[in-house]
Amino acid sequence: MIEQQRILATAIPGPRSQELQARKSAAVASGVGTGLPVYVTEGAGGIIRDVDGNQLIDLGSGIAVTTVGNGNQRVVDAVTEQIARFTHTCFMVTPYEPYLGVCEKLNQLTPGDHEKRSALFNSGAEAVENAVKIARHATGRQAVVVFEHGYHGRTNLTMGMTAKNMPYKHRFGPFAPEVYRVPMAYPYRWAGGPERCAEEALRTVTDMIHAQVGEENTAAVVIEPIQGEGGFIVPPEGFLPGLAEYCREHGIVFVADEVQSGFCRTGDWFASDHEGVVPDLITTAKGIAGGMPLAGVTGRADLMDAVHGGGLGGTYGGNPVACAAALASIESMEVDDLAGRARSIGKILGDRLGSLAEKHPEIGEVRGRGAMMAMELVTDPATKEPAAALAGAVNKGCHERGVVTLTCGTYGNVFRFLPPLSIGDDLLHEAMDVLEESMGAALA
Ligand SMILES: Cc1ncc(COP(=O)(O)O)c(C=O)c1O
Repeated sequence: MIEQQRILATAIPGPRSQELQARKSAAVASGVGTGLPVYVTEGAGGIIRDVDGNQLIDLGSGIAVTTVGNGNQRVVDAVTEQIARFTHTCFMVTPYEPYLGVCEKLNQLTPGDHEKRSALFNSGAEAVENAVKIARHATGRQAVVVFEHGYHGRTNLTMGMTAKNMPYKHRFGPFAPEVYRVPMAYPYRWAGGPERCAEEALRTVTDMIHAQVGEENTAAVVIEPIQGEGGFIVPPEGFLPGLAEYCREHGIVFVADEVQSGFCRTGDWFASDHEGVVPDLITTAKGIAGGMPLAGVTGRADLMDAVHGGGLGGTYGGNPVACAAALASIESMEVDDLAGRARSIGKILGDRLGSLAEKHPEIGEVRGRGAMMAMELVTDPATKEPAAALAGAVNKGCHERGVVTLTCGTYGNVFRFLPPLSIGDDLLHEAMDVLEESMGAALA
């Protein structure tokens, strides 16, 4: 395992990475962007090593994927063993046991003790598409309700479900029909103030569905229990349970998109667990399989089993190597109590960001849960004008100092933290020191 130490061997990106980036420009479509063009050779724990010998502290986990950490021994062993046995048969042709194991685990770990079924896919977007297929098929209804600031992927349907135009949707339309967008309960920016946000947002959302779509036409309401790309927006207490209850009353399938927030990231197995919300369907991906591409839809057996044989699937869905990685990742989460670790990471990040916010009024809000934390930057706390340029400058400063950080948000002004749960406290504090320094420099 590489040493858990930040090392700046060259400027970032270093000369070798710059050479590779020139090759990228000549070979890779420019639509595929890279946020921090250091070319990686190894990763372990909380460190990523690049071709120039730099070692960066990882606060991104490849966008919430390597939750159990790169180089997790259980994952490495399970994948190595599975690769040596067979890499693919296609579950729809000749099945294999690891697929069953992952579905059983998903059925067991997701919220609710009702009878469940699961189906496996390759990406978060594919999982969301399939949740919509299942909800439409099971209800015989077509409309899908999604939220402002929501992000669900880059396929045609999930682009249509995603809120933000640039870069996700711009000039990629037309999008799939029967997708309706309603306001998100966003306490920091709720016009009536955070205290009234849950009640008012719930009323607005249900009124809009009733008046503009009709409950009897609505197949599904799809929501991220903590919004990811849209800005780590945490709905106020009561909003999600109220929404789930409204859906239950009207036979609308309540879908929790936990692609980013699931698998211990927020300090519970799933973000829905926090308020005891039991979704009808739940989509998972990212953290499920230690970096291997795998996604799932899990939910009520009556809904999942409504679809005719052959109606769900895909050549690679539930690939055996990805399933082996998932079983090993889940074992790590259970044995090493990674939900507990996410809570202690959340405490460290929350404390450090809280003290930083006391120094800098440009930090309008610190929010999040567990190891899914963020700070929203504004030019002035009174107007809450989004400070995207400042977020960009701090991000760049962190990169140059050897910390992998990410921004997000509809206005590009949210700084998010998604460390692998295997990161040590020392590295986390060091990364926060770097953040402080970068923030100071950007504001100087
Ligand atoms: C909540 C949510 N849903 C869906 C997706 C799409 O997942 P993928 O990129 O694996 O298709 C993402 C990706 O960031 C996500 O955060």
